[in-house]
Amino acid sequence: MEDLSLLIDLHQRASRQGPGSEQCSRQAMQMATLSPSSSLKIADIGCGTGATTLLLARELNAQVTAVDFLPEFLTVLETRAESAGLSERITTLACSMDKLPFAEGEYDVIWAEGSIYNMGFSKGVSEWNRFLKPGGLLVVSEITWLGSDRPVEIEQYWREAYPEIATASSKIAVLENCGYCPLGYFVLPQYCWNDNYYKPLQEMFPAFLERNGGSASAQALVAAEEQEIAHYQRFKAYYSYGMYLARK
Ligand SMILES: C[S@@+](CC[C@H](N)C(=O)[O-])C[C@H]1O[C@@H](n2cnc3c(N)ncnc32)[C@H](O)[C@@H]1O
Repeated sequence: MEDLSLLIDLHQRASRQGPGSEQCSRQAMQMATLSPSSSLKIADIGCGTGATTLLLARELNAQVTAVDFLPEFLTVLETRAESAGLSERITTLACSMDKLPFAEGEYDVIWAEGSIYNMGFSKGVSEWNRFLKPGGLLVVSEITWLGSDRPVEIEQYWREAYPEIATASSKIAVLENCGYCPLGYFVLPQYCWNDNYYKPLQEMFPAFLERNGGSASAQALVAAEEQEIAHYQRFKAYYSYGMYLARK
């Protein structure tokens, strides 16, 4: 199996593909004063198997376009939507986030949890701005330094993995420079990483290795995931996802 197929095989069985929680997504909805009283058109970009898409469709009066470049994740999302009776509120779109076919001013809300880093925060918030109606809302989570002091080791790790990691004040400045009025920011708590993402992932490793005959590539993927987890446990005081809310 190719490395991407292995990644898909591992992650498509999870209910979410990155740190987060329904509580935090709800907190963002409340801070943005989103309520079911108005009918909304929402794009959930980099939706994975739809942890947040399903919540948005269930709790708001919304039509949600769920975008991911992996059709395998969207197939799982479609099944979940059907089981939840939400199919009529969700349309899936297999597409890269930097080639979205949306019209100018098409959306009331653009939501992206744990995904904008794939095209880079600055590029993403800048390019997606035109798809929002005037006054439209952007909600994105993004890897963020929790303060200005940190060990050199973690600084080097992130400089290689994602050089755009920065403090919240820098991210907020990017939003301001890209035509948004920042509305709020909060940090995803550690349970969003450990209980909701890493623990369920680790529980899936034995079955994943068995399905893939314990191949060297499957073992390498598990080792890489374990390394990421160990890294987070060592340095979680210094970084997390920040949730950013901003109005166009
Ligand atoms: C860390 S996961 C987060 C998924 C989901 N939002 C969640 O919180 O569970 C990032 C997602 O972005 C998707 N992705 C990565 N690169 C992409 C791209 N260029 N265009 C669209 N989706 C992409 C991945 O397939 C994956 O589902």
